[in-house]
Amino acid sequence: MRIDILTLFPGMFDAVLGESILKIAQDKKLVQCYLHNIRDYSDDKHKCVDDKPYGGGGGMVIKPEPLFHAIEEVERLDNLAAKKILLTPQGKTLNQEMANALSQENRLMLICGHYEGFDERIRSVIGLLEISIGDYVLTGGEIPAMVITDAVVRLIPGVLGGKSSLQNESFMNKMLDYPQYTRPAVFRGMKVPEILRSGNHKLIEEWRNEKSVKRTEERRPDLLEK
Ligand code: ADE
Repeated sequence: MRIDILTLFPGMFDAVLGESILKIAQDKKLVQCYLHNIRDYSDDKHKCVDDKPYGGGGGMVIKPEPLFHAIEEVERLDNLAAKKILLTPQGKTLNQEMANALSQENRLMLICGHYEGFDERIRSVIGLLEISIGDYVLTGGEIPAMVITDAVVRLIPGVLGGKSSLQNESFMNKMLDYPQYTRPAVFRGMKVPEILRSGNHKLIEEWRNEKSVKRTEERRPDLLEK
C-alpha cells in the first residue's frame, strides 16, 4: 500500500512512522509512506497557505489553491488512483469496519488541515471521504492521520505476526477483547484463572468467548445492540 500524507507539519509524523510496527511495515516494503508539505504547493511568493475567512470571524482558513495543487500533483506521482481522505471533525467517525475497508485499498491520500478549517471548496474534490476520529476538536488533522495510518497498516497481511491475533482482538468480532494473562501464575496474590493453565483449548475458547460477551455487555452494550 502507498500512503501519501498532505500536511503543513510533516515533522509531526517522524516518531510515529519511525518506530515500532509502522517502521517494520515500511522496512518490509508492505507500505510506503510519503509526506508532502502543503506549503510547497503554494503559488504565493511568501508561501502563504491561509487567509482570513470571508464574512469575518476569528481564525484562519486554509486557501483552496495550495490544497488543490498538492492533491493534484501528489496524485500524479503514482499510477495508482488514491482514495482521498480529508481529516475533519465533521467527517464520519472512524471505526474498525472503516479501517478494515481502507486496508483493502492500494493507495490512500490523507489530507490534514490545521487552524480553523479548510476553504469549503475542498469538498468538491471527487470521491473525497471525510473522516473524524471522534467527537472532540484537535488542533489539526495530523494526529487523526496518524491514527488512521496505524489502524490501517496493522491490518495489511504480513504486518503483524499471526492472523489469529487480529481475529481475536477487540472490535474484530464487534466485541471487546477477553482478559489476557502471562507469567507469573500468581502476582501479589492475584491468580491467573485455572482454566487458562489447563491446556484444554476447547474450554479455553468457551471461557474467552464468555468473558468477551460479559465485558462487552458491561462496558459497551451499544456494540451488542448493533
Ligand atoms: N481535525 C480536528 N479535529 C479532528 C477530529 N476529531 N477528527 C479528524 N480531524 C480532526
